[in-house]
Amino acid sequence: MLIQWTEDLSVGNGTLDQEHQKWISLLNDFYEGLKAGKSKEKLTELVVGMLEYTKYHFADEERYMKSIHFPEFENHKAKHDFYIDKITQFYEKIQNNQLILSLEVTNFLKNWLINHIKGTDKKYAEFAKNI
Ligand SMILES: [Fe+2]
Ligand SMILES: [Fe+2]
Repeated sequence: MLIQWTEDLSVGNGTLDQEHQKWISLLNDFYEGLKAGKSKEKLTELVVGMLEYTKYHFADEERYMKSIHFPEFENHKAKHDFYIDKITQFYEKIQNNQLILSLEVTNFLKNWLINHIKGTDKKYAEFAKNI
């Protein structure tokens, strides 16, 4: 397993915490598939599932930030868009048989998710506490 959800990743919102848990589990599945050398078809299925869910989560989170009038919304959304681009690139690499399990890929996916929740999502969590 690449990542495990723990309480320190909580953003104080049950729905968004659940979405983060689901997102982590899909990322773990993708990582396991990559590590196990699954077929291109299987990896495609895993990456598409992860990509679709990530988009769903980001849209939901963006709606939430808007609803609380979070002032750093634009900056946060730009980070989401950057990550979607990255995952889309991984998808394209799988299609071209170029995606291999490397430290670069796994570290990027893992670190981005953890740093995003802890460093970026936590900002709206803090903001929400004071409204
Ligand atoms: Fe976010
Ligand atoms: Fe999030």
